Amino acid sequence: MSSVIATTAIRGRFLDIQNTVAQAREIHDQVRYVEDGLLISQNGKITYFGAWQDGQHLLDANIPVEHYPQQLIVPGFIDTHIHFPQTEMIGAYGEQLLEWLNTYTFPTELQFKEPEYATKIAEFFIQELLKNGTTTALVFATVHPESVDALFEAATRKNMRVIAGKVLMDRHAPEDLCDTADSAYTDSKALIEKWHGQGRNLYAITPRFAPTSTEAQLTKAGQLKAEYPDVYVHTHLSENKNEIAWVKELFPSQNGYLDVYHHYGLTGSKSVFAHCVHLEEHEWQCMHDTDSAIAFCPTSNLFLGSGLFPLHKAWEKQVKVGLGTDIGAGTSFNQLQTLNEAYKVQQLQGNKLSAFEALYHATLGSAKALSLDDKLGNFKQGKEADFVVLDLNATALQALRQSRAKNLEDSLFALVTMGDDRNIVATYVFGQCVYQA
Ligand code: GUN
Ligand code: ZN
Repeated sequence: MSSVIATTAIRGRFLDIQNTVAQAREIHDQVRYVEDGLLISQNGKITYFGAWQDGQHLLDANIPVEHYPQQLIVPGFIDTHIHFPQTEMIGAYGEQLLEWLNTYTFPTELQFKEPEYATKIAEFFIQELLKNGTTTALVFATVHPESVDALFEAATRKNMRVIAGKVLMDRHAPEDLCDTADSAYTDSKALIEKWHGQGRNLYAITPRFAPTSTEAQLTKAGQLKAEYPDVYVHTHLSENKNEIAWVKELFPSQNGYLDVYHHYGLTGSKSVFAHCVHLEEHEWQCMHDTDSAIAFCPTSNLFLGSGLFPLHKAWEKQVKVGLGTDIGAGTSFNQLQTLNEAYKVQQLQGNKLSAFEALYHATLGSAKALSLDDKLGNFKQGKEADFVVLDLNATALQALRQSRAKNLEDSLFALVTMGDDRNIVATYVFGQCVYQA
């Protein structure tokens, strides 16, 4: 039998979730833990995953095996909502959404009209994602098309799967940060032609949120989506109560906030709406009926005082949910820290977020929210080889807590509660190691 010529062979303790589920309680049965496992990838794809004992004969003697006997290897984390130009403004004090945008966000984003500046921050941003074990992200750029180029170029250098788009915004923002209905259409179309499906890059039509787009611009956005049904739509929805009241004033003929997007053809299975903290019952139904997805961003929702996202409601209504950091309203690039806050947001509503459900949201669940669960999210053969090597004992306190862990679930829960970038030992993208602590 001819042996596999592996580009990468990894041996260690592996943990993933095997299949997507309809209910949180079903996740437990999908947990796969391989104590002494082997993952082989060729040309970026997983060609073998299973027990070391069963797979070692596939390896030629000249193929080096990276062995992580003490660590835990999980699928790469997926961030379903983040703003790369806001990297430098994490921790902006004292405001809620609308004031925060005017006071901090718009001045920061104005800087990205300079392509060199955009390139510098894009490089930093991609490195920071990898340092935190995040291998895929759905990303807001700024209104400037060059900011999208800068991001895709930086992601391409690492072979990362990134979905991103130019912000559409033609009112209620500084003049230098506004496009027009026509330029939004023309510039986005050119970017789609240039980037969508180039390597691992994918494009998202990105209206900032309903208040900053005129009806003319939303019409153009819908037209673009109809022309390119395969591209994503990425925007914000029902984050803050003042925001929602403002949308109702601006669009009196629509039946609430989500109906604005729905009216212009912007809902659907490749539409991702960040936040959805205060959806009304008919909006939950519309999210379900259109197969639209939510990006749950707990650190942001707490930091801006936006509210508590009802995760149980999304399960009940069968609406897809991914996990988002929402940098720079969010306070960490790290998905372990994001899950730590997600747990507390659920506690405040009397709900429990189990460790395995947490892992699901950061990996396969987010892949499903991005309609990428056929390519990402676990170690299934044929999927793209994105994964992260974790040290569960990165600090003395973590080691003490882990020494008392009752079982794998308890150990994972301690990691999610206490973990951060210190736990990331190595990050692999498309089979290659792109970050090492
Ligand atoms: N709504 C509109 N723009 C933004 C943004 O940049 N961040 C957040 N969190 N919400 C928004
Ligand atoms: Zn956001």
